Amino acid sequence: MNNYIITGASRGLGKALAEALLEDEQNCVVGVSRNSTITHDRYRHQQLDFSDIAGVEHNLHKVFSPFDDAQKIVLVNNAGVIGEIGYVGQSKNEHFEFVFDVNVIVPAMLMNMFLQSFQHRQNCEKMIVNISSGAGQRAKDGWAAYCASKAALDMLSQTAQLEQEQLGTGVRVFSLSPGLIDTEMQEQIRESDAAQFSSVQQFRDYKANGALVSPEEVAQKVIQLMEKPSLARGVVCSVRDF
Ligand SMILES: NC(=O)c1ccc[n+]([C@@H]2O[C@H](COP(=O)([O-])OP(=O)(O)OC[C@H]3O[C@@H](n4cnc5c(N)ncnc54)[C@H](OP(=O)(O)O)[C@@H]3O)[C@@H](O)[C@H]2O)c1
Repeated sequence: MNNYIITGASRGLGKALAEALLEDEQNCVVGVSRNSTITHDRYRHQQLDFSDIAGVEHNLHKVFSPFDDAQKIVLVNNAGVIGEIGYVGQSKNEHFEFVFDVNVIVPAMLMNMFLQSFQHRQNCEKMIVNISSGAGQRAKDGWAAYCASKAALDMLSQTAQLEQEQLGTGVRVFSLSPGLIDTEMQEQIRESDAAQFSSVQQFRDYKANGALVSPEEVAQKVIQLMEKPSLARGVVCSVRDF
């Protein structure tokens, strides 16, 4: 069997990815998020709120099964939040903690547990795909916590890949920018105030002009990378590369 752990599987890209993978009877999916929206024989949901670190620490082990007969085990850190859009100096202090907990701290804990559990597994392909963003490399006003969190995810991925190479485990780690996806996150961006995000009109135009890609289409790109890692130009990569 191929075993996939996908965070943020309740909607958006994560849900589209889980549903696409479940079409293949060789695949099993564990979805992790606050809400459960998929019912399938080969799907298991683990409810976790990534903004509740104490709760995550207590329950994280429940995400990981032994996956004894696995030929392939993949962790997809997809859950993400942009948080309240606004300038540094005008934001609530809790905002930074919230965005970092969901976008960096819990993904790092999941990577840590995944590697502890599976890095030395023989005869099994092991991969971590962290869903990042171009915002991790290009500053956008009003998005400081989000941009910084995705930059952190990129470096976390690069460092983990370097370590796995030094250990000779064969684990592949990617930080994949998925492009502009037509999800609730984009809805939230379009609703922001121009005084808090100067490019808001550009994002409204993306939607109006059909520039957003469906989650299903992006899910196929993620699957392409998982099936053929050589498509990526490096650890930090983009769906635009392939
Ligand atoms: N949409 C874009 O244009 C775009 C562009 C670049 C990068 N990305 C990245 O792509 C990924 C997927 O984004 P999306 O657009 O599909 O977002 P989305 O539609 O807003 O879905 C976000 C997912 O994250 C989960 N999540 C949110 N808060 C959570 C929490 N506190 N604990 C656990 N899970 C939580 C949600 O599940 P629950 O609400 O059920 O918990 C949901 O399944 C994110 O990492 C995002 O940063 C998106």
